[in-house]
Amino acid sequence: MIETIKEHLAEVEKFSSTSTEEIETFRIKYLGKKGLLNTFFAEFKNVPNGEKKEFGQVINQLKSAATEKVNALKEALENQADTKGKFGDLTRPGEPIEIGARHPISIVKNQIIDIFSRIGFNVSEGPEIEDDWHNFTALNLPEYHPARDMQDTFFIQTDPDILLRTHTSSVQVRYMESHKPPIRTISPGRVYRNEAISARSHCFFHQVEGLYVDKNVSFADLKQTLQYFTSEMFGKSKIRLRPSYFPFTEPSAEVDVYWGLETETDYRMTKGTGWLEIMGCGMVDPNVLKNCGIDPEVYSGFAFGMGIDRIALLLHQISDIRLLSENDVRFLEQFKSAL
Ligand code: PHE
Repeated sequence: MIETIKEHLAEVEKFSSTSTEEIETFRIKYLGKKGLLNTFFAEFKNVPNGEKKEFGQVINQLKSAATEKVNALKEALENQADTKGKFGDLTRPGEPIEIGARHPISIVKNQIIDIFSRIGFNVSEGPEIEDDWHNFTALNLPEYHPARDMQDTFFIQTDPDILLRTHTSSVQVRYMESHKPPIRTISPGRVYRNEAISARSHCFFHQVEGLYVDKNVSFADLKQTLQYFTSEMFGKSKIRLRPSYFPFTEPSAEVDVYWGLETETDYRMTKGTGWLEIMGCGMVDPNVLKNCGIDPEVYSGFAFGMGIDRIALLLHQISDIRLLSENDVRFLEQFKSAL
């Protein structure tokens, strides 16, 4: 009898299965009401006294071996089921993932960069905290020049030489100082002006300025480049150049694009004229080239600059510039479908 129990013990230890039914059959065979263990326990009274001790020990051994085995196999099975549930069930409905949106300023900025990079312009960047030379003096705006008034800015109180840049023309100065022509670069970035905040203007906004310096660059090249830009950006290539004044360009012009008057929105956007003003431009003043170490007898160039915020407001029909810096998700969310 003891031998038989020992054989069962070996069998229990060997047993393994990943099937719920097999494990259950195994449990019933050993641990069930009419199972082998109960049969062996019932035999106990018939065992001769001398063997009782050893007999008792082996059936207890068999009982705990069988119980442990069943528990271990069931646990393994449950763990496996867990993993299957988490990763294996491809029919489970997906969990919605919130998709973010680019900021309208970034959307427009990237569009502009993309358009100019296709005709060979690279991107240059510079510091927002500038010195007087790069923001004003090198650009033909010496101290006490009345045109400085158009771009009043924020100065560091203890050092009037340090200020927040008023345009990214400062980056163009830096670029000309450190690169030899041919130069074809656009400079996107944030700029500051001492202006009262309202729906139409802010004390900071964003610009993209462009610069092209080489031999024989003419006003016709400028016009062609602008026309390419407006047709890529707005799908409109009819433009108009109005004479204007910037200290760093001569001659200077203001660029209007013909938007049309087809819809009521067109009327509102263009104040009934059909024309939209989009940027300033001109031929780089020889003094500026000289200030930056470029010989104006050999080289000439054109420059232009536009406000990204203004274009974003126009294109997306946004009525208040302050919305662009309030970080209100309800506003920002609306640009999910844009680029
Ligand atoms: N820097 C000018 C501004 O901030 C824009 C401009 C750039 C005009 C280049 C002409 C040429 O308004």
